[in-house]
Amino acid sequence: LQDPEPHIYEQVLSGPWELNKYNLILTGEKLGHGQFGLVKKGFVSKESNRKIPVAVKSLKGTASEKDKNDFMNELNILKKVGQHPNVVCLVGACHIQGTLYVAMEYAENGDLRSYLRKSRRSKQNMYQNYKGVSCLQRYILIKFALDAACGLRHLAEKQIIHRDVAARNVLLDENLIAKVADFGLSKHEDTYVKTSNTRVPVRWLAPESLFNAIYTTQSDVWSFGILLWEIMSMGGTPYHGIDTQTLCNLLKQGYRIRRPRHCDATMYAMMMQCWNEKPECRPTFHELYMRLQRMVEDSQ
Ligand code: ADE
Repeated sequence: LQDPEPHIYEQVLSGPWELNKYNLILTGEKLGHGQFGLVKKGFVSKESNRKIPVAVKSLKGTASEKDKNDFMNELNILKKVGQHPNVVCLVGACHIQGTLYVAMEYAENGDLRSYLRKSRRSKQNMYQNYKGVSCLQRYILIKFALDAACGLRHLAEKQIIHRDVAARNVLLDENLIAKVADFGLSKHEDTYVKTSNTRVPVRWLAPESLFNAIYTTQSDVWSFGILLWEIMSMGGTPYHGIDTQTLCNLLKQGYRIRRPRHCDATMYAMMMQCWNEKPECRPTFHELYMRLQRMVEDSQ
């Protein structure tokens, strides 16, 4: 019996991304909770019996129109992003019995925020130098930031605004290479003005996004500054203990998060530049990438 093929899937299921349904193996293993429900582990079988692990997001035919549109938006963004070592890339998509499955690159070490929080308690932290942070740790933290900046520079070149840059949306592969993930809110536009009243990641948002609903690559740079802060605080919560209304008032007065304990002045200065009130005065992802590369070299 043939599966019904709703037309909404046809545009995404034709072309190079189409997976033969017999090549997608689903396991029951849960990886996390996406906006559209569970992300599960799977495998895609390639030629010569090679199986590659994937993370599978699914969309049931019975989902709401809004969920379907958002899911399609994410899939179309993933196609535009293409392949990049610091982005969680699309592997393929297929349609099985009314459900659309999207297979993405699998990132073995999970999300960066959880990884940093686990590392707070691990043995690695016992080898500390007099400044309280080991050389290895300093290197790996800056390397995470460099990888994320490289992925975000690629998105900026493709004119994609991510809109949800945060440590929870950066994943780590088996070699601890950081990859930007989760394009659920992303837009392929120069400037996106949000119209609907959906939830937003308040603590990561630039003032122009928070107060005027304006999103650009330069508002992603602000969020990247918050991501730098999350990395240097080993997975801390930005503006911890401050409620949304108070945070809005503080931002209007020019308040910024304080320097984390083990963060040096150069790194803190970089965050503060990302948090410039004027979007055009913030550094670009290319500048951030170049500066982080120098910092990685110096920390080796
Ligand atoms: N959780 C959500 N997406 C994932 C991915 N691509 N790899 C591993 N875990 C994930």
